[in-house]
Amino acid sequence: MDNKDTKIALPVGTTLDRFIMRKQEDFPYATGELSQLLRDIALASKIVNREINRAGLMDIAGAFGSQNVQGEDQQKLDVIANIRFIRAFRNGGEVCTIISEEDEEIIQTGNPDGKYIVAMDPLDGSSNIDVNVSIGTIFSIYRRKSATGCDGDLTDCLQKGVEQVAAGYVIYGSSTMLVYTTGNGVNGFTYEPSLGEFFLSHPDIVTPKTGKIYSINEGGYNSFPQGIKDYVEYCKSNEYSARYIGSLVADFHRNLLKGGIYLYPPTAKAPNGKLRLMYEANSLAFIVEQAGGKATDGKNRIMEIEPTSLHQRCPLVIGSAEMVDKVKEVLTQAEAALV
Ligand code: F6P
Repeated sequence: MDNKDTKIALPVGTTLDRFIMRKQEDFPYATGELSQLLRDIALASKIVNREINRAGLMDIAGAFGSQNVQGEDQQKLDVIANIRFIRAFRNGGEVCTIISEEDEEIIQTGNPDGKYIVAMDPLDGSSNIDVNVSIGTIFSIYRRKSATGCDGDLTDCLQKGVEQVAAGYVIYGSSTMLVYTTGNGVNGFTYEPSLGEFFLSHPDIVTPKTGKIYSINEGGYNSFPQGIKDYVEYCKSNEYSARYIGSLVADFHRNLLKGGIYLYPPTAKAPNGKLRLMYEANSLAFIVEQAGGKATDGKNRIMEIEPTSLHQRCPLVIGSAEMVDKVKEVLTQAEAALV
């Protein structure tokens, strides 16, 4: 293609499919199953994106009339997204077992030869569905520990974050983006609805070392640990910007690109924090670390926490490395002052 051609017909860029294929070529012994699994996720997310865009027009916004295992009201779109992703994994064949925010027990896909386990929050930020605010899908992928040929079990599912082989999220916002890592940097793809494809738009995302945005639900301030209160005061005295959407994916995505910190500490209402280790904290921790940031529960690196149950919660402090270090320093000072 010469210069004249590119001037009248701009190249559209690299599709997600092509990118995944190229990455697979870097691993001579890769069988292509992980690549296929990532494509399954992309396909399901396109379908969910379509449903979200139609939500105002069809009878699929609003409450479903039941609660999930967390005791949260399920929205119709939560249920739809869960069905879409599970169906994609059943049809794909690479996944044997799924952990989903929407299901109390593990889900067997009926693919006993599948090598992978997926942990997912099919639609995060549900309280924002009805009001046209960004929402997301979060996922982690693990290799199963047990031999293939039978269903995956709890040992396959309860793996530490450091064992993830891939993690990512889809943000359904002013544009729809899929961001993922397989442990070799982070790349972001923007959905082009008229072509029905994700295109590489954010190659090799590196999060700023520090930033001036802090994201926390300050409504819980009175019951925050002293160190978190102190950090919030530190942010205010330095005139940081408070930005809190209430959709983890959206708050995380903004901070990843611009530099900032997201905190969900223990509160009176949520003594262990609100967010789930297996399909919120670990997935985003893998991404942030791959982008040069950090994630902690205040004491431990998120990805080293030993999971003991599927829907376990943990406090989460995640974002730009220097900001996370500052939170840890302030927490340590506050604890020392108590002694
Ligand atoms: O999954 C939980 C979630 O909806 C996150 O997306 C979000 O960051 C958080 O809860 C909001 O919680 P709260 O309303 O307590 O601030």
